[in-house]
Amino acid sequence: MTYKKIALTAIVLMLGGAANGESNVASSDENIDALIARMTLEEKVLLTSGRDAWSTQPVDRLDIPYIWVADGPHGLRRAPTTDTWGYGDQLPATCFPTASALSATWDTDLVREVGAALGTESAALGVNILLGPGVNIKRSPLGGRNFEYFSEDPYLAGKLGAAYIDGVQARGVGTSLKHYVANNLETARMWANSDVDDRTLNEIYLTPFEIAVREAQPWSVMACYNRVQGVYGTQSRRLLTDKLKQEWGFEGIVISDWGAVVDRVEGIRAGMHLEMPGLDRDINNEAVLAAVKSGALEEAEVDRLVRDILRVVLRANAVADQPGNQNLEEHHALARRVASEAITLLKNDRESLPIESGRDRKVAIIGEFAVKPRYQGNGSSEVRPPRVDQFLDIVREEYGDRFDITYAQGYNLEDDADTTLVDEAVRIAADADVALILAGLPLQYESEGIDRLHINLPPSHDLLIEAVAKAQPNSVVLLTNGSAVAMPWVDDVPAVVETWLGGQAGAGAVADVVFGEVNPSGKLAETFPVRLEDTPAYLNFPAEHGEVIYGERIFVGYRYYDTRNIEPLFPFGHGLSYTRFSYSDLEVSADTFSDQDPLHVSVTVTNSGEIAGKEVVQLYVRDESASVVRPVKELRGFDKLALQPGESRKVTFTLSERDFAFYSQRHGRWLAESGNFEILVGSSSRDIRERRQVTLQSTRSLSYSFTEYSFFREIWSNPELKPMLVELMPNWLRSQAPDGRSASEANVENFLQDQPMIKFPAITLGEIDADDVEAFIQRCNSLTFTP
Ligand code: BGC
Repeated sequence: MTYKKIALTAIVLMLGGAANGESNVASSDENIDALIARMTLEEKVLLTSGRDAWSTQPVDRLDIPYIWVADGPHGLRRAPTTDTWGYGDQLPATCFPTASALSATWDTDLVREVGAALGTESAALGVNILLGPGVNIKRSPLGGRNFEYFSEDPYLAGKLGAAYIDGVQARGVGTSLKHYVANNLETARMWANSDVDDRTLNEIYLTPFEIAVREAQPWSVMACYNRVQGVYGTQSRRLLTDKLKQEWGFEGIVISDWGAVVDRVEGIRAGMHLEMPGLDRDINNEAVLAAVKSGALEEAEVDRLVRDILRVVLRANAVADQPGNQNLEEHHALARRVASEAITLLKNDRESLPIESGRDRKVAIIGEFAVKPRYQGNGSSEVRPPRVDQFLDIVREEYGDRFDITYAQGYNLEDDADTTLVDEAVRIAADADVALILAGLPLQYESEGIDRLHINLPPSHDLLIEAVAKAQPNSVVLLTNGSAVAMPWVDDVPAVVETWLGGQAGAGAVADVVFGEVNPSGKLAETFPVRLEDTPAYLNFPAEHGEVIYGERIFVGYRYYDTRNIEPLFPFGHGLSYTRFSYSDLEVSADTFSDQDPLHVSVTVTNSGEIAGKEVVQLYVRDESASVVRPVKELRGFDKLALQPGESRKVTFTLSERDFAFYSQRHGRWLAESGNFEILVGSSSRDIRERRQVTLQSTRSLSYSFTEYSFFREIWSNPELKPMLVELMPNWLRSQAPDGRSASEANVENFLQDQPMIKFPAITLGEIDADDVEAFIQRCNSLTFTP
């Protein structure tokens, strides 16, 4: 195995740090400044670009080492050397369940544990930064990389992303939070423009990044390929500096997605630290040098980036040369446990599952996935696992003594329309007590670089399920896919299990759930729609001439289905168990509370069934009286509880101002308005068990932001400002109330209320002039109000 050679000692001595002194080296900005002072402009510019496929530029003269970065996210894809791509010849590493499975666990501790295992494997193979996690929002089930992303919900995606980062970084390995931001499709991803309004951008697409950055400080963030509001992600100062660094306090570096740099000089100005990968002849470095030399770019801007880069490089350096054990055996067991926690029982009529030896002796296993597992997605995240379990083998080995197992291929993974294998499957199903049909999406259906065109299973899978269900009423469908699929046969089978892309040990996890060794506890982190036509982005996906119109705005996922009252196939947060849970005693710390105080919410959950199980308790908030349109509920808390039969546990959530807020486009900030809210606690977004109304009292003081184009109505309807209007145009207002009412009682026609203030010199026939309007607007804007 090759490990990179790093001149650690020299650097540490030069900077006066301890040999393993991450903090000494990394935190010493003065030392870093001293180092920068010794660098030539050429060396500094060199540092802002990669050396080759996976490493940064070293500066040998000053003993500045390179660092090694590698994909991510659900396993390590480390190429044999930094200058080879590592597709097919990557070093073996554990393939964990992909992000859509991790998120179905709703278990931040478990995701942190996966992160730690990934960190261990990265450190063992000399990788300093693992390129993940991906917290982009699943805007449409068609998104080709949905399997690599956590959720349609920003809070859930952010929390899981933070846990993943914590886990990896606790092992001294950095992460790269990707793909920042509004990268929600694959079609034309290199140039598409995400045309998304500010409110939506903040509430839905930026929030998961914000949570992960604030809570876990990833060493790096990966800037997306696409444009956002017309500006490339690699050159948006607003996103890379204003938001990330200034607003959220990001301390790391921004790395471009591979080949995402368009205008490198603009990128430097915007705060894009590192261009990846390295180019053979670095035209972009030459452009930066020329810009500095000509005075078009300040050298101080380069220094600012180099300072951050050195901080990361030197921190990585302190832990880089640790050849170690990848713990592959232990991680295989962890991968199986994680996969079993992710498995989501969507439907279980007549308690068809688990399979019991007394009742279901003869088990027909149907579907080629049982021998050729689908366990991860296509693209840069492809891990080469040391081994991959097969369902048929595992069932025979671990459960074969209690059951008679038969197998039929059912379909042909090479040809998704080939239905010649159905008859054989029907025959063994009819002869069994229960049929397990493994169906789902073949690898080519879910890939980086392309989006899905529909949400159907291959025709041969649908046909197989329909035919087998007719021959065997006790048919269970075990689905393998990275994102939502349609299920036209759902009413014909008693049970459906979503097994996701379960990684190298997923087969064992499915067997454990099916045969009752594990009680399923996964919940959907994304809505499963009945039809593609029901999905929020249906009319706007993928793009028109490269323009991606986010027409559904904030109404993504359940925010859309619930607000539009559209029945999904299976709702967000849904997932059944072999036991039952009851909810009681919802309590809040105050019925009326101020935005300065936390609100504590507690609820008691009881396992009222006969076996141990886990429940994901979900807390949603509903705004009853907002000044803007809001989704009917939004996830603001969750917790996963393990409960023995009969056991009760009280779970407490703490809510703060942000949990009640929306992003006000008008004020350019988060706003929690005074008024009534409802706290909803339940087992899924559509299975709310307890609710309670609370009242928020805002203490914020905001300035008005009227312009001469603000409508008369906006001021007239405000009791504080109305008297000022009366004072401004008393005669005209009196003329609106000819029956002797006062100016302030005047009945102003609807038509006139919707006129902008700029027209009032004309409307009042000269009672006021343009200067009066301007002075009036300024006077209004000097006042404050409480939202
Ligand atoms: C992907 C990234 C990945 C990078 C390096 C890009 O095409 O979008 O997610 O980390 O390649 O493989």
